[in-house]
Amino acid sequence: MIPRNLAILLSGRGSNFVAIHEAIRRGDLEARICCVVSNVPDAAGLAKAREFGLNAVSLPSKGVERIEYDRLLLETLRPYSPSLVCLAGFMRILSPLFLEEYPGRVLNIHPALLPSFPGLHAQRQALQYGVKISGCTVHLVDEGVDTGPILLQRAVQVLDGDTEESLSARILKEEHDLYWRAIALVLDRLEKGEDTRGPRR
Ligand code: GAR
Repeated sequence: MIPRNLAILLSGRGSNFVAIHEAIRRGDLEARICCVVSNVPDAAGLAKAREFGLNAVSLPSKGVERIEYDRLLLETLRPYSPSLVCLAGFMRILSPLFLEEYPGRVLNIHPALLPSFPGLHAQRQALQYGVKISGCTVHLVDEGVDTGPILLQRAVQVLDGDTEESLSARILKEEHDLYWRAIALVLDRLEKGEDTRGPRR
């Protein structure tokens, strides 16, 4: 049995973090959240982590150079020995320095069907393009912006009259049911000694 420690990195509301926490509490996901780190000190997600009695760490990124920040982040995470690092609305790009310490073990969730609409405001981009189907993606993180091997995706229909808010809300509901499944998938692959990217690449 491998350790199933999850480090969660977030920058804001933290609803995906809460959904992962709930999946663990329900017994759907066999894992433990070893720490929650936010680069935004007053992030609502960090306050939630404290409420839940988890290790909640504020590591402000404002004014800190990227490599220096990633070095601090690595130092912060090390004592908690995470098996996986799960980005849950963590609005920063990680450097190779960070990723090399957790090869194939950093996950991200994105509110679009990648490789369509990477970056900020993915739901707005989807509406502006006029796609009829969008959705969400959980993928392994590489040095790009929302690139890296795809683990799971869920499609969401774009409805006539959808606003950015209404589409985002429907996608978010699916995100909450998708992320913990992708985490379970990667933990199972690690347990079996398989490549976390899966058999098809
Ligand atoms: C989520 O919709 C997530 O997919 C998105 O930020 C939101 C965070 O919400 N992430 C990205 O756009 C990454 N490119 P949350 O803080 O409530 O989990």
